[in-house]
Amino acid sequence: MEPCRRSMAAALLLLLFVGSRLGQDAVAPPLVRVNLDGSPRQRWEPVLRLYEPAYLRRCLRHILDAVVPKWVQVVLRPLADELECFIRKDYAEEIRGVAEALGISVGEVFLLNLSYEITAFCTSIIAQNRNGIIYHGRNLDYEFKDTLANLTIDVQFLKNGQVAYMGTTFVGYVGLWTGQSSHNFTVSGDQRDKGSWWENAVAAFLKRSSLVSWLIRDTLSEAEDFASAILKLAKTPIIADVYYIVGGVLPKEGVVITRNRNGPADIWPLDPIYGEWFRVETNYDHWTTPPPSDDRRTAAIKALNATGQENINLDTLYKVLSVKPVLNNCTIYTTIMSAAYPDWYLTRIRRDHM
Ligand SMILES: *[C@@H]1O[C@H](CO)[C@@H](O)[C@H](O)[C@H]1NC(C)=O
Ligand SMILES: *[C@@H]1O[C@H](CO)[C@@H](O)[C@H](O)[C@H]1NC(C)=O
Ligand SMILES: *[C@@H]1O[C@H](CO)[C@@H](O)[C@H](O)[C@H]1NC(C)=O
Ligand SMILES: *[C@@H]1O[C@H](CO)[C@@H](O)[C@H](O)[C@H]1NC(C)=O
Ligand SMILES: *[C@@H]1O[C@H](CO)[C@@H](O)[C@H](O)[C@H]1NC(C)=O
Repeated sequence: MEPCRRSMAAALLLLLFVGSRLGQDAVAPPLVRVNLDGSPRQRWEPVLRLYEPAYLRRCLRHILDAVVPKWVQVVLRPLADELECFIRKDYAEEIRGVAEALGISVGEVFLLNLSYEITAFCTSIIAQNRNGIIYHGRNLDYEFKDTLANLTIDVQFLKNGQVAYMGTTFVGYVGLWTGQSSHNFTVSGDQRDKGSWWENAVAAFLKRSSLVSWLIRDTLSEAEDFASAILKLAKTPIIADVYYIVGGVLPKEGVVITRNRNGPADIWPLDPIYGEWFRVETNYDHWTTPPPSDDRRTAAIKALNATGQENINLDTLYKVLSVKPVLNNCTIYTTIMSAAYPDWYLTRIRRDHM
């Protein structure tokens, strides 16, 4: 009894410690499992069952109406029946399954997926400590914070009973903006805004380019290591510009990939030998100056400088991501991760900053 009780006390203490360290109201999202061996149509059911269908329907419609222009709905809705012609069959099936479970149309579920591709203002940081350990952190900032905070989940995708990869997403959304392939690499995506988004995205979609967040999921599912992840993320055609931030398991394995729809615009690696032990990417090309009205970059760099390479770890990285305005009133969640230590993957919903 005694050792058991002691370890329970230790666990409680640890919980208290973690709680106070991260702030009272930064809560963990539900952790759910999606079994990839099951049929795509059924695979999200256990997740959807955690929520009230009417509530989910309301949330999804609210976002859809606010975000997707009418003409896009008109152009894309009829295509819903032929999704397989444009997207991978298993994703099409997943979308059908979600639509059935929620009692909404396939077109709506699909449009919603598409709509998340637009306005994710974010901060991603990749850093290497003095021992060569790579840390990766991200804030996901988006408009519908109240709604999406409630829908945020950590997902483990299982193959043969093992975790094949994991990530953080919103209920009803099959793509990933944040994820990890254990002992391989971590990825996050930040929006790269180029204006007249929808026209170009719809055109690219009709040419069968991948959704930005689905390429992250495909890469987590298929790439064997850091190098092949970079290659896939850099060159696969996608429907919109984006920044992909990737961390590996070995020293120097950290890059920011600036993407055009058709290929890489720039690849910006860590360069720790020359003192460049971190990279910060918000929503602006790293070779330009961010607008003074939205300079999250300088704030993050200052906080990292003050932390120092000798003190960087997941805790201190979380603190950097909690400095204003890196943390702001649109920040839905913070994730910190390190591919070499997959169990450290941690997401907190930032209710401490509503
Ligand atoms: C989110 O969940 C909380 C608590 O469950 C609830 O009070 C709130 O109304 C929800 N917010 C939205 C926008 O759905
Ligand atoms: C996106 O498609 C997936 C397909 O499985 C579905 O789970 C999800 O509901 C869709 N997301 C949204 C927000 O429509
Ligand atoms: C890296 O990912 C691939 C593809 O998911 C997987 O087969 C492999 O086992 C992973 N490598 C390690 C070291 O886990
Ligand atoms: C951070 O430190 C580097 C190296 O000392 C310095 O060049 C840079 O100006 C600093 N940036 C900020 C925003 O403090
Ligand atoms: C979010 O912050 C901005 C700038 O700090 C402020 O103008 C805006 O009113 C805030 N929005 C909400 C919903 O609190």
